[in-house]
Amino acid sequence: MTSTIIELREVNKTYSTAAGDFVALKNVNLTVNAGEFLGIVGKSGAGKSTLLNMINGVDELTSGEVFMHTDGANLSVHDMSEDARAFWRGKNMGVVYQSFQLLPMLTLVENIMLPMDFSDNFHPRKSRDRALELLELVELSEHANKLPAYVSGGQQQRVAIARALANDPLILVADEPTGSLDSITSDHIFEVFEHLVRDQGKTIIMVTHDMGLVSRFTRSLVIVDGELLDEQDDSKFDKTVMRRK
Ligand SMILES: Nc1ncnc2c1ncn2[C@@H]1O[C@H](COP(=O)(O)OP(=O)(O)OP(=O)(O)O)[C@@H](O)[C@H]1O
Ligand SMILES: [Mg+2]
Repeated sequence: MTSTIIELREVNKTYSTAAGDFVALKNVNLTVNAGEFLGIVGKSGAGKSTLLNMINGVDELTSGEVFMHTDGANLSVHDMSEDARAFWRGKNMGVVYQSFQLLPMLTLVENIMLPMDFSDNFHPRKSRDRALELLELVELSEHANKLPAYVSGGQQQRVAIARALANDPLILVADEPTGSLDSITSDHIFEVFEHLVRDQGKTIIMVTHDMGLVSRFTRSLVIVDGELLDEQDDSKFDKTVMRRK
């Protein structure tokens, strides 16, 4: 039996800038089932990060609604107060940002401990051990006590992934999480995600421009100029050049 975990209804996002308004998402409808590994692909500027920021509630939407069906509740993400949303996210959703967003004054292990200590899902005495285990999972144990500035971009990206997994979230939302990784490391991270979905029942939404990964998602959707194409429309999309046919 499938159950809906995330639902977007008629989501629109317009950015207002000095140069005028820019419509970044057009009437997006999306239903994600629990246990899906959903890939979202599209070219640079298509609206992938904007879409994820609507789902994780990091940015405000212009109109529409985003619902989360977790713990038997039906939460409207954008109707929650900022504090309630941050607390809900801490408990239920891990986020890997495209630009990592590590705190520069904390070591790698401390960056991973932070969400655990913030949400108190884990006892403070346990959070360091768990953070070290997660560093091992992303193959960075020997760098645990370094500051982010002293490791490579790909290593920072793996810390961001470990941090997103810190609270053992039901939902993982990841923006190009393998974008800075070589193919072997990328494959390892992808296997970690597959394991979370297959063996632990997690739900993952992952943005990528790597068309080679598409066949490995349980479902993939294409976004073009702020429009999410449904799977039937997908045939109108030329995946080799990431444009409408
Ligand atoms: N804060 C902002 N203010 C104004 N326009 C923005 C803002 N953020 C994004 N945009 C515009 O919205 C569109 C979608 O941006 P978005 O970052 O979602 O693209 P993307 O698909 O994630 O691209 P990439 O693959 O390069 O990360 C782009 O045209 C971008 O210029
Ligand atoms: Mg992006």
